[in-house]
Amino acid sequence: MSKNTNKTMYVCTECGYDSPKWYGQCPACKQWNTMEEIKVTHSASSGATVSALDLTAQPIDQISITDEHRYLTGMKELDRVLGGGIVQGSLILLGGDPGIGKSTLLLQICEFLGKKLKVLYVSGEESAHQIKLRANRLNVYTENLFIMTQKDILAISDYVAHMKPDIVMIDSIQTMVANTAQSSAGSVSQIRECTNILMNCAKNNNIPIFIVGHVNKDGDLAGPKILEHMVDAVLYFEGDKQLAYRILRAAKNRFGSTNEIGVFEMGDTGLREVENPSLMLISGRPKGVSGTCIACVMEGTRPIFAEVQGLAAPTNFGNPRRMATGFDYNRMNMLIAVLEMKAGYFFGNMDTYVNVIGGLKLDEPAADISVALALVSSLKDQVVPDDVITFGEVGLVGEVRSVVCCEQRVSEAARLGFARCIIPKNNLKNISAKLKNKIEIIAVDNVRDAFEALLN
Ligand code: TYD
Ligand code: MG
Repeated sequence: MSKNTNKTMYVCTECGYDSPKWYGQCPACKQWNTMEEIKVTHSASSGATVSALDLTAQPIDQISITDEHRYLTGMKELDRVLGGGIVQGSLILLGGDPGIGKSTLLLQICEFLGKKLKVLYVSGEESAHQIKLRANRLNVYTENLFIMTQKDILAISDYVAHMKPDIVMIDSIQTMVANTAQSSAGSVSQIRECTNILMNCAKNNNIPIFIVGHVNKDGDLAGPKILEHMVDAVLYFEGDKQLAYRILRAAKNRFGSTNEIGVFEMGDTGLREVENPSLMLISGRPKGVSGTCIACVMEGTRPIFAEVQGLAAPTNFGNPRRMATGFDYNRMNMLIAVLEMKAGYFFGNMDTYVNVIGGLKLDEPAADISVALALVSSLKDQVVPDDVITFGEVGLVGEVRSVVCCEQRVSEAARLGFARCIIPKNNLKNISAKLKNKIEIIAVDNVRDAFEALLN
């Protein structure tokens, strides 16, 4: 016997923690005033709905798999981030700041998808007229693209079952409403409900659905974690709106690796793929000045070069300012402490800034040595030569520790015409003799070795 009851629940809008009780501070993420009331229809049953006698579990070797089917998007960068194309029946969340280019990306791939597939693009944000104008600008003229402006998610889901498109795009989840949830569009309960409906829609019709989601000021998707574990893949579109390039990153992917990134450039006719991001990121870098250095980080299987800038300027008043953009603030402080205690460079009365050019975030420890070099170069006003690539993790005693994929990084540096490479000494064994002929390798044991080699 089962009966339906209406229950009140409280859900944290920041982390998705839910509880039957209201809290001023979320017990999970410790944010204040984030618990929001939602009504859930709860099916209170006295026991299991299926008898245990009806259940079976299958031995894994007897489960047959047909080859998972993927659609290519015509954009190699996007396909790679997706793990080799769009998997049928999957729910893919595309997140990013408003105006970063999410709608542009989705509309743009419609031209290629439309060659073979029927695409339904549902917008709750723009009128059909606006979408048509944008499509023209993006050279999307396929007759297989169908535009619908609608916010009622249940109606959309019914329409999808009836129209049977091959792929659906929902722009954006924040504008969708389900009348089963009693709150305004964009609230946690609405987003949760709408995503649930879309998930069923994707699985029942075995079609992929893209969901656009805007992120809030902290860089999380509104109602973030709830969405993340409901969907199959979460892609984030990052980058500075002022700058032309955008990075697409997978935060979760049930059908591929989360290490891959895709790089795009926003132009007059939409997004263009950037096949050689390193060249773009370091182009236009100033030559012969102090306080800049080129780092090499791995983004998935690709080495990417990025310009790291450091500035040390005398503090005028009070405590020195410390600021890091594109690099972890605490890690910068740690590096400064290492430089002070282990290498004898003092930043105590210096405002210190670190900036990674191009809106890139360097979260791999291999960038440590580049940050250290940029800072010391600025402090001593001595130039790091601009034909050098640097990478290596810096430890607390000033040692330079080995990193993964050393050979790949060095060969990329050689390929792009750099003359020298600072690498951790322990990585020297990874470098083939052939490669050593192409580029000069400077193996360092300690940060001081790097300073001696480059700054004097
Ligand atoms: P959009 O895709 O609307 O962003 P989102 O859906 O993530 O909110 O991107 C809009 C921005 O991109 C807008 O600022 C204008 C710019 N843009 C171009 O520079 N070139 C183009 O061809 C298009 C379509 C947009
Ligand atoms: Mg948009």
